[in-house]
Amino acid sequence: MRDVWRAARRLLRRFEIRRRRVRLLSRPAVVNIELTGRCNVKPACTFCVGKNLPTYHEPGHLSEEQLASFWPWLSGAERVNDCSYGEPLARPDFLPILDRLRAAGVFVGFTSNGLLLNEQKARFLVERGETLDLCISLNAATRETYWAHHGQDWEKLLANVRGLVAAHDRARPGQPVPLMLSFIVMQSNRHEVVPFLRLASDLGARVALLRHLFDIGIRGFTANNFGHHFDYDAETLPFAEYQAIEAEVRAMPELRAPRAGREPLAIAFAWNGRDSFIAEQAEPGVDVPCLFPWKFLSIRPLHGFVAPCVYLKRGVATPQETTVAQIWNGQVMTGLRRELKHGRVPAFCMEHGNCCPLVLEQRAAAGAPVAVP
Ligand SMILES: C[S@@+](CC[C@H](N)C(=O)[O-])C[C@H]1O[C@@H](n2cnc3c(N)ncnc32)[C@H](O)[C@@H]1O
Ligand code: SF4
Ligand code: SF4
Repeated sequence: MRDVWRAARRLLRRFEIRRRRVRLLSRPAVVNIELTGRCNVKPACTFCVGKNLPTYHEPGHLSEEQLASFWPWLSGAERVNDCSYGEPLARPDFLPILDRLRAAGVFVGFTSNGLLLNEQKARFLVERGETLDLCISLNAATRETYWAHHGQDWEKLLANVRGLVAAHDRARPGQPVPLMLSFIVMQSNRHEVVPFLRLASDLGARVALLRHLFDIGIRGFTANNFGHHFDYDAETLPFAEYQAIEAEVRAMPELRAPRAGREPLAIAFAWNGRDSFIAEQAEPGVDVPCLFPWKFLSIRPLHGFVAPCVYLKRGVATPQETTVAQIWNGQVMTGLRRELKHGRVPAFCMEHGNCCPLVLEQRAAAGAPVAVP
């Protein structure tokens, strides 16, 4: 019965997208939820700006009551991602929550720093590899660079990743490892992009994700956490350089060479609108630049906002538990859909979406300075 409802909801969503409806009866297919604000990395990683600000007060875990209030949105989705500004594996009941979602028929995903991924957790995750995937943040290909940004044990991280892949190969031999490895390309690690991609391939990841350093709207941020002077503005590459790196990587087919017993490594570029999270939302035959506002909602109760995509760091509203439905069909969301259905990148996104590939591409095409993507 549950599957029948799920299929009906999917059909309704497809119908509404094809009709380019701006007010929706269907609910988001993908919901991101922030389950914790806590992190085991102290002091924080250099680029994790919020956690480095002296005024920042680290939130705790999302309470059971709050979780219950959002549950209908989560359990009705096709996929739920944890999107914590924190470390999901630091939440003691994180794995049971994943299981509750899976029991409701939801595919789950999350991003982790990988440092708490012990053998037991790895086994739990890979045994559920059919309906779960995870992303682990490396941001380096050497111990020195990893230390400069994370101040943590590179060998331990690699051992945890290898342990996960080995546990996976035992539990699901011949299946792709549901693992993405992520690398934020910055001035200080730019030279490690290709070594990182080789490492990701050797480690057995299914996907390697190259990401741009987000424009978080703060200028002049610096940190000196691990003996490396980190200057956010200087670390951020001009958009053209991200594009040059992409061209360089695309011209190296050996990075996607066949691997024994595995598919070749897939490489994704988060700054490219045709290759990014926006492309993941696309529907065949629907010529709309971005379908996020029809299919997705990011609920961040701990930081007090709801956002229509992964790139907008400014919310469309605050997530009062009774108002998620109102937000979904509220003024901002319907406005975004209205502009997008006419092929325009919405004014709201042009103003606040400094990390969005479509905004970056439009600004670059208009000759506007996009030195800080
Ligand atoms: C905020 S972290 C939370 C999950 C986990 N603690 C981790 O570090 O993977 C989620 C993702 O955002 C990335 N991230 C953090 N700060 C960023 C920034 N300023 N620009 C781009 N990506 C960033 C991290 O590398 C990580 O892949
Ligand atoms: S591990 Fe993740 S949440 Fe923690 S400080 Fe680093 S980037 Fe931020
Ligand atoms: S900022 Fe706007 S156009 Fe860009 S991904 Fe988000 S909703 Fe889509």
